[in-house]
Amino acid sequence: MNYPEFPQDCKSLLSKHLSLEVFEALKDKKTSNGFSLEQAINSGVRNLDSGIGVYAGDKESYALFGALLDPIIEEYHGFTKQDAHKSNLNPDDLNAPNPDPEGKYIVSTRIRVGRNMDNMPLGPAISKEQRDHVEASVVAGLKTLEGELSGNYYPLLGMSKEVQDDLIKDHFLFKEGDRFLDAVGLNRNWPEGRGIYHNNDKTFLVWVNEEDQLRIISMQQGGDIKEVFTRLVSAIKSIETKVPFSYSDHLGFITSCPTNLGTAMRASVHIALPKLAADMEAFKAITDKYYLQIRGIHGEHSESEGGIYDISNRRRLGITEVEAVQDMYDGVVALIAAEKAL
Ligand code: ADP
Ligand code: ARG
Repeated sequence: MNYPEFPQDCKSLLSKHLSLEVFEALKDKKTSNGFSLEQAINSGVRNLDSGIGVYAGDKESYALFGALLDPIIEEYHGFTKQDAHKSNLNPDDLNAPNPDPEGKYIVSTRIRVGRNMDNMPLGPAISKEQRDHVEASVVAGLKTLEGELSGNYYPLLGMSKEVQDDLIKDHFLFKEGDRFLDAVGLNRNWPEGRGIYHNNDKTFLVWVNEEDQLRIISMQQGGDIKEVFTRLVSAIKSIETKVPFSYSDHLGFITSCPTNLGTAMRASVHIALPKLAADMEAFKAITDKYYLQIRGIHGEHSESEGGIYDISNRRRLGITEVEAVQDMYDGVVALIAAEKAL
């Protein structure tokens, strides 16, 4: 492989941090699962509109390709090699009374974490047999959940297009054919080994073998962020007794994408901010101040509809889960105040 030339207007962290020197030092290296630099950067090379542009094939990738990944992790999370990751899953430490009890602004709240199985390659480097094994192990663990968390597993294989489309439209299921994931091999053997578990009310869901092997999700209508967090924590604690997760003292939970390391947590609200959205500069000033990210209504790389936005924490590594949710909460309080003042 030759050194990829990125156009001047390419803004990805890959294009910024892949110097010729770094490329030469890493280009012939492969992890024990056979994952190469070429595979790690292919998504960003093919998709020049990437924000990041790199993925890991396994835990080892983060060490082996550190010359490229460390500066990307530092720029995204503000987390250096000297920093230590920390965890706090105690809902009592979260200060988050419903910021919108009348339901004027917040449509729904969702908090998810990514997890992958210990001693397994990540999705980009996994074999079909290993992926099927992950699915079977995760589903066996989920089947033991009780109470509010008990539910059923629905494999993608054999699911009707209609049911699949409805689940996607209603914000419960991952979409199909993501070009960023495609380029790193995360869509191989689709739809085999993929599926969704959920309880009857669809307030607790688990995605199996999408970008990460598990995406554990708690969601509901309205703005009771603490209730959503509390349910998620109880699910995480139950599942981790059944499925061993890949974890590193330095990087926290190991995920395919470096943006998800650490807590692997994204806490979001769908929130109506039509007036504020008319002044994107003022809107962004607030989201930047609180380390928030703005997404569209149908998830990443989608657009807003009807002045409703997906607002979530941006940092996930080097802060605790409680702090990640607190970032989102504090920012949402500020956004509602700004919207009300207009
Ligand atoms: P992820 O959260 O796993 O990083 P996406 O941004 O693609 O991935 O979002 C996944 C799905 O979750 C999308 O359908 C999105 O609309 C939905 N979603 C995200 N936040 C909320 C929310 N607060 N309320 C309802 N649906 C949400
Ligand atoms: N690889 C994509 C990009 O660089 C997504 C990055 C973050 N999102 C994610 N789902 N991992 O734009």
